[in-house]
Amino acid sequence: MSKRYTITAALPYTNGPIHIGHLAGVYVPADIYARYKRLTGNDVAFICGSDEHGVPITIKAKKEGVTPQDIVDKYHAIIKQSFEDFGISFDNYSRTSDKIHHDTASEFFKTLYDKNEFVEEVSEQLYDAEANQFLADRFVIGTCPKCGNEESYGDQCEKCGTSHNATDLINPKSAITGNVPSLKETKHWFLPLNKHEQFLKEWILEGHKKDWKPNVYGQVKSWIDDGLRPRAVTRDLDWGIPVPVPGGEGKVLYVWFDAPIGYISATKEWAAREGKDWKPYWKDENTKLLHFIGKDNIVFHCIIFPAMLKAEGSYILPNNVPANEFLNLEGNKLSTSKNWAVWLPEYLQDFPDKQDVLRYALTANAPETKDNDFTWKDFQARNNNELVAIFGNFINRVVVLTNKYYNGIIPTPSEFSKVDEETLAAVKAYPKVIESSLERYRFREASQELMNLARLGNKYLADEEPWKLVKTDEARTQTIMYVALQIASALATLCEPFLPFTSSKLKNILNVSSSDSTQENSLENTWADISTKDILIPASHQIAKGELLFSKIEDKEIQAQLDKLEASKKANEAANKAVEPQKDTITFDDFTKLDIRVGTILEAEKMPKAKKLLVLKVDTGIDVRTIVSGIAESFTAEEVVGKKVTVLVNLAPRALRGVESQGMILMTETPEGKLVFVNPDDANVSNGLHIS
Ligand code: 2FM
Ligand code: ZN
Repeated sequence: MSKRYTITAALPYTNGPIHIGHLAGVYVPADIYARYKRLTGNDVAFICGSDEHGVPITIKAKKEGVTPQDIVDKYHAIIKQSFEDFGISFDNYSRTSDKIHHDTASEFFKTLYDKNEFVEEVSEQLYDAEANQFLADRFVIGTCPKCGNEESYGDQCEKCGTSHNATDLINPKSAITGNVPSLKETKHWFLPLNKHEQFLKEWILEGHKKDWKPNVYGQVKSWIDDGLRPRAVTRDLDWGIPVPVPGGEGKVLYVWFDAPIGYISATKEWAAREGKDWKPYWKDENTKLLHFIGKDNIVFHCIIFPAMLKAEGSYILPNNVPANEFLNLEGNKLSTSKNWAVWLPEYLQDFPDKQDVLRYALTANAPETKDNDFTWKDFQARNNNELVAIFGNFINRVVVLTNKYYNGIIPTPSEFSKVDEETLAAVKAYPKVIESSLERYRFREASQELMNLARLGNKYLADEEPWKLVKTDEARTQTIMYVALQIASALATLCEPFLPFTSSKLKNILNVSSSDSTQENSLENTWADISTKDILIPASHQIAKGELLFSKIEDKEIQAQLDKLEASKKANEAANKAVEPQKDTITFDDFTKLDIRVGTILEAEKMPKAKKLLVLKVDTGIDVRTIVSGIAESFTAEEVVGKKVTVLVNLAPRALRGVESQGMILMTETPEGKLVFVNPDDANVSNGLHIS
């Protein structure tokens, strides 16, 4: 029976492009589910948009010396385009800086305010006096009171996932100045989660014990068991939606208050565009509301947003929140700051016609029940060994043989053998099998079932060997090819949620594309047709010559990706190279004992059989002396002649490889480990260092 579905995918922060972690955790499974629900005849609103408020965006803007609006404009465009190019089939991709969202979120806040659902409280909050700013959320870093992670943010610890108030942090430090914050009084509006504890217990702990994923249920239970406390839903920041009630001047809504309301505003925007009413999608008890998110968003979607919806009173609550765990990359945590990621726009540039390969690799290896690892080798194997060798190979054989034997016209079958009957019956069972996995949010399993259907096709052809029978048994060959074409046709429909580009290519090859598959005379099948129709593609129908659905990915393409990651690793190592700790303190008198002068290198030659040493003749202004310096790995003898250098002239002489060195050239090291001269800036002074 057809149902109404409101399917949301977490609104990405608009401070960087999308990477494979986002895709595997949220957008690919959400898109598979939305496509599957449409294909099975449901009324679907698949909603997403850019999350454009919050501290990460302000921090990025500060870093780049531009406005937060510049940042969100830039990344909104990049993210929207890459989702489109990747085939994520949102019905609407909106943004939270749009007026419709500001109005919707303000109105929502005012309703709760008018219903006395907030606690208004003046309390002491962390304040950075130097930056003249309250420290909310990511503006403050400290030790997580729950797990001891020393890098926890003010509102959430990324290590254990706990969501807390900034004042709960141990040893907080300002992320702006590094200062230890002071406490300063300020007024805020709190959502009293404790008031909703009983309802949340009944609704989730009793109502969804069986149908929510264990990882989601377990996290929610642990929060509820720890006891819920009021959460501030406003902030002293200047980027966000202004607090729309008296006393709210200069304050904005907490980003996690406004962002989930973004799902509602995006639905409103879509409905207006489509001439539909948005309300049933959010207010009709028969609508199924599903939030696809990553595990770090669980508390917000399972506790805080439902408490907001319940307090407002006129909205439905989510039926399920199928959150995924995290995806790692080549054994390490994905990290934007360390550039340890596969960025979607870059992937699309490097593999412009391989959207489905990434979708498939991410689905087949999805982090559904535990964190998982993406490796480029696995990506290559999924493509070469499964998409090319199984799916592509089957379709290619069917299409090539149909064209070769029958000029592309589907032959009329004669009597079906037992194997034919069994094969056709097995095909009919596939929609239910795949459905059963998808309904339990087991996308990996579902993708493997799809591949099993292609395996079935390959086995059928391999066992029946039409290429042998064509010489001896015309009627049997026709039947085999007819059956194989039925399997190909089933694949074209059932692969659509997982491999939409492939599905559309395959439908073109089979010459069955139509704008509306529900039309009586359409040759394009619906999901249900695969189980119910006896003829999925009819005899006498002309198919096209065909093209390859997938192509092999060569080792060198994979190596290029691994090289990119290696370069990121090197850059990180250089950036993180441990700074040597400061040496013991010396007195001012100790310092004045150093006689440092500016000299000029007059001659230089390599010390024989010593990799690191140059023998220099240096004019110190007092005399010309010999100095043996360990700089030969960074400079040639020729390039240092004539250079002005800083020289410690009263260092006790010592012999190096038999040559007496009468002083020391001062050098320092770049983060990459390259030696550079302590540069006297060509100054024409040689009377020692002036100390002021
Ligand atoms: O974690 C994130 O990237 C958030 N921007 C997700 C927001 S989901 C929603 F509530 F809008
Ligand atoms: Zn923690």
